[in-house]
This record gives sequence, structure tokens and C-alpha cells, in this order.
Amino acid sequence: MSRKVLSVLLATAMTASLLVGCGGSAAPAADAAAPAATEEAAPAATEEAAPAATEEAAPASDEGAGMKVGVAMPTKDLQRWNQDGANMEEQLKAAGYEVDLQYASNDVQTQVSQIENMINGGCNVLVIASIDGESLGTVLETAKAANIPVIAYDRLIMGTDAVSYYATFDNYMVGTKQGQYIIDTLDLNNAAGPFTMEVTTGDPGDNNAKFFYNGAMDLLKPFIDEGKIVVKSGKYDFDSVATQSWATENAQSRAENILSSFYADGTDLDIWLCSNDSTALGVENALAANYKGKYPIITGQDCDVANVKNMIDGKQSMSIFKDTRTLAAQVVKMVGQILKGETVEVNDTETYDNGKGVVPSYLCEPVFADINNYKEILLDSGYYTEADLQ
Ligand code: BGC
Repeated sequence: MSRKVLSVLLATAMTASLLVGCGGSAAPAADAAAPAATEEAAPAATEEAAPAATEEAAPASDEGAGMKVGVAMPTKDLQRWNQDGANMEEQLKAAGYEVDLQYASNDVQTQVSQIENMINGGCNVLVIASIDGESLGTVLETAKAANIPVIAYDRLIMGTDAVSYYATFDNYMVGTKQGQYIIDTLDLNNAAGPFTMEVTTGDPGDNNAKFFYNGAMDLLKPFIDEGKIVVKSGKYDFDSVATQSWATENAQSRAENILSSFYADGTDLDIWLCSNDSTALGVENALAANYKGKYPIITGQDCDVANVKNMIDGKQSMSIFKDTRTLAAQVVKMVGQILKGETVEVNDTETYDNGKGVVPSYLCEPVFADINNYKEILLDSGYYTEADLQ
């Protein structure tokens, strides 16, 4: 993404942050660890912080003065995490915080050492989008011992009581919106069918992946059971359709195998349920190379530029839009509430159990974008410019 795109994005970040439904109610603060002492923070041990996306501006507020926030992101490979990181950094700095933003190249060990450095570097709060939700228990014990509160960002961190809060989009709803889109587009309740479908979901180490999958399959499985949807590969259980690291190449090679084994004889494929855009891209690449039949409905998530372009070209039907500006704004608000000892705003205290208890959560609402509404959702909101999509 160009600096220009990013700066447009960031310039609109604050004003547009409430565009997509993120309203919620306050609940009593959970047992968040008390803020760490704010005396002298040693400099962050690593030099690898991503550069700020925009020129340094004087903070608009001094709310965070003297406080440092560590922001751990999984990878720069996917567009969304670059936006998440840039939005978080921009909004935290605008509130006067010092920020230590790190990307871990999807490598768990790298992320663990980045978090260690954030702890040693005097961060007062940690905001973490994990690579593997199960792998941070040990390092977060250190955070807990140092009384540093942790907010799990977008992905829940599992198996530890060191997570104070979770902020994300409603992940189950992402799946139901994908499933409902398929039902509505094919008029599955009335059409005779049968329709053919294949399924691709995400990384088994990402707690979100099962929520996406379950949300969609809870709606679609009854049609499989009645024979109106036929999965010719026979594979639609979560483990069979998971994609390691959410990688486009992995999704693509599985799609190529399926297409050559089950659709090379001219059978039409009507639906490919994909949990997100990186996997949808793999499926779209495989279709372009290996399939001549009727083009299927393909779902996605994130509204990545490449996928929105494909949507415009008729190669992807929809993508769930999760406005990363909104999530960042919510997390910055939660950081402030934690550090001021205020009640932290959450709107879900039931859904996200990480194995050590339910983590109080704030769920933003996703929406879907398709060819009919993408201009309104993505351009009018300032998320992209026309030029970005050319
Ligand atoms: C996020 C998705 C993203 C996927 C791959 C998930 O945890 O919620 O938005 O597409 O990871 O990075």
C-alpha cells in the first residue's frame, strides 16, 4: 500500500471510526491487572518497529503522556494487519502514548521475544494480535507478574488468565453473513438445486477460524444434509478444509487438487465458501488456471485491495468488511479506560472462553461488501480511494 493510501486512511481514521456498528454497553471492569508503574521506561530492546505510517504529528491529547503501549501484530504479509498496526499507532500517538509496534513475520518465537522486549521495555499495556493463540501463555505469565494488562486484539489468546480483555469483530457473525449471502444469492430456500460447493477456512491455530467456519456452516449444513448442496470432494469438516497460516499458496494448492479431481469432467461448481480474502485469492488463482465451468459464488473477508479488484472484475462475489479503524479506536479507548482505572467498555461477557475463563470482550459488527454496495462502504467511508482499486 502506498504512503498516500495510508495517509488518506489514517487521516480519516478518527472521524470515520464510528461508521460501522461498534456501539456497546459498559460492563464492570474485570480483574484487569493494575497498570504497571510508569517511572523510567527502558528503551525498547528491538529496533524493528515498523516505521510510522505518517509524519509525526503533535499528539492531539496528552491522555497517554508518560505511558507506553506495546502493539504486537502477526505479519506484514496481509494487508489488514498493516492497516491495524498503522491505525493503532496513529491513534495511540494522537492520544499521547508512546508506541512500540512490532510485526512478527508469522513466526511464533519472534512474537514471543517481541512481547518479552515490550515487557522489559516498560510498556504499560500490551495489545496483541497473536499468531498462534495457544503459544503465548508463558510470556504472558511474565506480563501478569509485572502487572501489565493485556488486550487480545482481533484473535483471542488461549489458555492463560493473563488476558484482561478481548476486542474483535463478531467472528461468528462474519461466518453467518457469508452463509446468508450464499443462501440469499442462490435463493436456497426455494431453488430446487442441487448446488455444488467446496469449503476453505483458516488456520487451526487461530481461534477465529472456527468461529467463521461455524457461523457459515451452521447455516449451510442443513442444505448439505437435505442434499440441496453437494460437496463433491466430500470434505467439509473443519480440519479437512483448514488452511495453514491462512496462506494463499496453501489454499490454492488444495483448490487445484479439488478442481482436477472432481470438476475436470465439466461438472459446474456453484459455491466456494472461503473464510477470508487470502484464502479466496488462492481459490480464485486455482479457478483461473484449472477450471472452465460456470464461475462459482466465492465469499471472502477483509476487503483486501486485490480481492475488491476481483470483486469488481466478477471473480469474487463478496467480502466481509471489518473496518480496522473502528477496532483500533475501540482498543485505544479501552487502553485509556484501563490505565485510568475506569470501567472498561465491553459488550460480550459470554462468548469467548479461552480455557481459563470467559474474557470480557468488545465485539464490533462486520458488514458485507459486494459489487452493489462497495462504493458506499469502501469509497464513501474513505477506506479506499478510486485510485487504490484501479
Ligand atoms: C482475522 C481475519 C484475517 C485472518 C488472516 C483472522 O484472525 O480475523 O480478518 O483474514 O486472520 O490473517
